[in-house]
This record gives sequence, C-alpha cells and structure tokens, in this order.
Amino acid sequence: MTSNCRTIAERLTAPGKGILAADESIGTMSSRLEQAGVEPTAENRRVYRELLATAPNLSDSVSGIIFCDETLGQTFSDGTPFPQAVLELGILPGIKVDTGAKPCPGLPGEKITEGLDGLPARLAKYADMGAAFAKWRAVFEITESTPTRGAIRANANALGRYAAACQEAGLVPIVEPEVLMDGRHNRGRCRDVTAEVHAAVRTELELLNVDLAGIVLKPNMVLEGQDYPDRPSTPEEIAEATVSVLRAWPEELAGVAFLSGGQSPERATANLEAMQKHETPWPLTFSFGRALVSPALTAWHGDPQCYADGQAALVSRVVANAAVARLRVAS
Ligand code: 13P
Repeated sequence: MTSNCRTIAERLTAPGKGILAADESIGTMSSRLEQAGVEPTAENRRVYRELLATAPNLSDSVSGIIFCDETLGQTFSDGTPFPQAVLELGILPGIKVDTGAKPCPGLPGEKITEGLDGLPARLAKYADMGAAFAKWRAVFEITESTPTRGAIRANANALGRYAAACQEAGLVPIVEPEVLMDGRHNRGRCRDVTAEVHAAVRTELELLNVDLAGIVLKPNMVLEGQDYPDRPSTPEEIAEATVSVLRAWPEELAGVAFLSGGQSPERATANLEAMQKHETPWPLTFSFGRALVSPALTAWHGDPQCYADGQAALVSRVVANAAVARLRVAS
C-alpha cells in the first residue's frame, strides 16, 4: 500500500505539474453557480466539472483533479464515469473525504473538521471507484484569541487519523491545514500560527505512523489577513516567510501543493513563482481551487456558446502556474 502511495504522491507533484481542486461541496458549488447566473442543478454541476476536466491538454499541466462525492459518482456526457474518464485523459482522480468544518464543542467560534466515522469503508468504496488520492481540509481562523491549542490539537489529530486511514486504503492523503486569510492580522502572526499548526500536524502524523513520502501537504501561503490595514506583503516576503515555516518538514515529504485561499489568481501565481527561488528538498506546486476555476466559471457562465471560452480561461491559469512550478530549485 505504502509503496503505491509513494508512487502516486510523486506523480501528483511531478515537475511542472499541479493539482486542480474542483471539489466544492454541493452547497458551495451551487452558490458559485448562482452568482455566475447558472441554475444550481446536479446536471449543471456535472457539465461544469466536465468542462474543467476536458479543457485542452490539461494533463500537460495538471497531475490530478480533486472532486467531491457527487461528481465522483457522475459520468461524462458520453456515459463514462468521471474517475475512468479522467484517468483516460492522463489525470489522477481524487476525492474530498471530509464532511466539512463544523462548530467545535467546547471551543466557541472554532471549527473541527468531521468525517472520521465510517471513513475506512468510504475510502474502500472510493478506491474501488478509481480514486487515487483523497483530501481533508482543517481550518483555523486567526483572531486575538484563536486558534486555541485545543482546536489545533483536535484538528491535527483528525488529519493524522485521516492520513493513516488513507494510506491503509492505498490512497494518497492530501493533508490540508488551512490558516484562513480572514482577519486583520499581519504576516508575522500568520507565520507563527502556521508554524504551530504544522508542528501539531507533524506530531500526529508521526504518532500514527504516516509515511511522509506518501502524502502531499497542502498548506496556506504565509501572508497578512485580507483586512490588514497596512501595505500587502510582496511575493518575496511571502515566499521567504512560507518557506521558513516549511523548512521544519523532513526531506522525505513527497511534496507541497499550496491552496490559493481567496487570493486573486495573479497574486497566487506570483507568490508561487517567488517560492521557487528558494532551494527546497521537496517540490512546491499548486493545488488551487478558486485561483484556477473562478475565471473559467465567469467566462462560461452556463452559456453553451461560451464552453470553449471557459476552458480557455482555465488553461490560461493552469499553464501560467505550471510554468512557474517548473522553475524549482532542488536542494
Ligand atoms: P482554494 O485554492 O480556493 O483555497 O481551494 C483549495 C481547496 O482545495 C480548499 O479546500
């Protein structure tokens, strides 16, 4: 199982390739469709995901696509199930397996990501359906009093249990601890919180015997909150702060694939480019959601005549990020 995970993790973070996060829950996807003027039906969610997956030459720049449970059970318009159709395109299919961040009992205002109950059975089902990897996202909001040690420990433990279960099922876990951009905090506070969260996650992964060469870490970039009143950090400052936090991860980690977290597509790419100037033992690439798909959704907006425009908008972002991911300096 583990050697299979190592091979898949290496493929997911192969030079010049990244991961497309198209795993918005039914609720989130529906509201994004509505904002774009598209009726939020299961069929429109399917059409939109097929538009993304079949964008021309996507596999040149994208190693894997993360879907949600609904999409994994849907088919392309020719009747081929999504996992098989995507594999035939040369892309690994992945599945979001957490069931969302819910209020954390005992910790007012904080969240715990749920989905551990029955997880091994669900992972076995997803592996049978053709999924090669999985994703679990924990969220941490920075305020004056959060995240607390309790929320960090609870979420890190859940990430560890999820990762161990994935590797036992032969699926590569994408481990996503996201320190949110919401708030007025500065870059230094984001750096300190991200470092504390990562340390807790590493401890749990180690205690649960997770093979770091068979996971992909999906962190936030280290930057100021979106309501920070002073000047925004430069890509060089963000790269420096982010890589300094990541240096605590051992060399055997398969790779790092960043989330975009609400940054503009251009800013996320510029920051990823600045990261590549640092020598690192693991590849640094993208696993963006909004920074890849927002322009595509706007261009398509449900109009069949704009299908190719939607695909072109996705390809333009994906190609820009893959070009940057290729600039890596290995240490
Ligand atoms: P964003 O890049 O939009 O933050 O989404 C990535 C993701 O997969 C969130 O879980």
